[in-house]
Amino acid sequence: MEPPPDRTKRPWRFSTFIYSSSILFLLLSILILSFTTTDLYKTQTLRFTFNLQSLFSKSKPVSSPSHCVLWMAPFLSSGGYSSEAWSYILSLRRNLENPKFRIAIEHHGDLQSIEFWNGLARETKEVAIEMHGTECRPNETIVVCHSEPGAWYPPLFETLPCPPYGYNGDFRAVIGRTMFETDRVNREHVERCNRMDRVWVPTEFHVSSFVRSGVDSSKVVKIVQPVDVDVFDPLKYEPLDLVKIGDLVLGSGLGLGFVFLSVFKWEQRKGWDVLLRAYLREFSGEDNLNLEEGRDGYPFVYVIDKHIAQVDLPRLYKAADAFVPIVEAMAMSLPVIATNWSGPTEYLTEENGYPLVVEEMSEVKEGPFEGHQWAEPSVDKLRVLMRRVMSEPDEAKVKGKRGREDMVKNFAPEVVAKVVADQIESIFEEKTRR
Ligand SMILES: *[C@@H]1O[C@H](CO)[C@@H](O)[C@H](O)[C@H]1NC(C)=O
Ligand SMILES: *[C@@H]1O[C@H](CO)[C@@H](O)[C@H](O)[C@H]1NC(C)=O
Repeated sequence: MEPPPDRTKRPWRFSTFIYSSSILFLLLSILILSFTTTDLYKTQTLRFTFNLQSLFSKSKPVSSPSHCVLWMAPFLSSGGYSSEAWSYILSLRRNLENPKFRIAIEHHGDLQSIEFWNGLARETKEVAIEMHGTECRPNETIVVCHSEPGAWYPPLFETLPCPPYGYNGDFRAVIGRTMFETDRVNREHVERCNRMDRVWVPTEFHVSSFVRSGVDSSKVVKIVQPVDVDVFDPLKYEPLDLVKIGDLVLGSGLGLGFVFLSVFKWEQRKGWDVLLRAYLREFSGEDNLNLEEGRDGYPFVYVIDKHIAQVDLPRLYKAADAFVPIVEAMAMSLPVIATNWSGPTEYLTEENGYPLVVEEMSEVKEGPFEGHQWAEPSVDKLRVLMRRVMSEPDEAKVKGKRGREDMVKNFAPEVVAKVVADQIESIFEEKTRR
């Protein structure tokens, strides 16, 4: 078995939740770095581990509707696919009035984290347990494989395959939901995509990069990702005490001034180096309004490398003044700075945030995307935007407010639930007619 591919990511210029399985919060306060190695989360097998046998073997009388969607994703990991998958199934669950299908879920595609499960809201856990217990007949089920294609049947690493028994027609249809951050999809993944009945991707950027790479254009459909604008609502929360939960690794003194927050996986080439460089070049201890530190002092850098429960994320965002990524932060009305490439081009504009102009592309040097191109963010341009978001608070506020409005209008759960349900229903119709 090969190890799981490195889902290499540059978090702050893209949605950081995507792909990251060990997430770190970096607070840059206007006021560095002896890194403590992040303790990767302990992986444990949960009792919650789903059992496929029980899902399909018993043929308990099925109440109507008989149609089912089996959504397979890393539901029990803290990565980006997980938060996406949760947002889809919770959106469907809460917003469909007369659903024409039931939803079953299964963990697949990444390691399980007990911490992540413990940090979920109670209601979410109850929904999960219920949906996991939903029994479906394969011949009346559409499977959604929501993960990286390497996890699809036959998987390239150890995971429950999706679809569970291959593509030989047990299921009514199989949909792959995935994305990549580079400018193309490699050949192996193109083949895996083309075995699916549909491939759902979240942005126009991905539609074109997938089709350009050879994925059958009749299969590629843009399905945007919902943002839980009710949970991520700035009016509902008090900020977390960042000083208490973070470790100060650079700068000295007390108090926080203007807070930039970034969330990412602690890996090289993730963009945090660019972020830190821009921050340290642009700011100094003098910028911390609460400090009388000498002019040569460093600005504060805090690192939070402990797990933050999912339910506490809104409070974390609430405690920041600007966010270097992204949709949840926009829903929280924070002004967002992100590289204007790939995912963010779908929703980030000059009106609702601070798109960072792409000056050059660079070649990915290692990992499964070696040889692909991606955008190289500019330290200097980032400095300008970080300074501007801090020195023009009125403008930042207007953009932040517009960011939330755009999220509510285009990505609210009820909006996306309808899109997904229409897609699912049309596939059932198509496959029934045959
Ligand atoms: C699915 O299979 C079951 C038997 O396993 C059968 O009773 C049912 O009619 C089938 N449904 C469809 C839509 O073919
Ligand atoms: C961001 O990228 C999009 C798509 O490439 C482009 O249309 C837009 O003008 C860009 N915005 C900025 C500020 O560069």
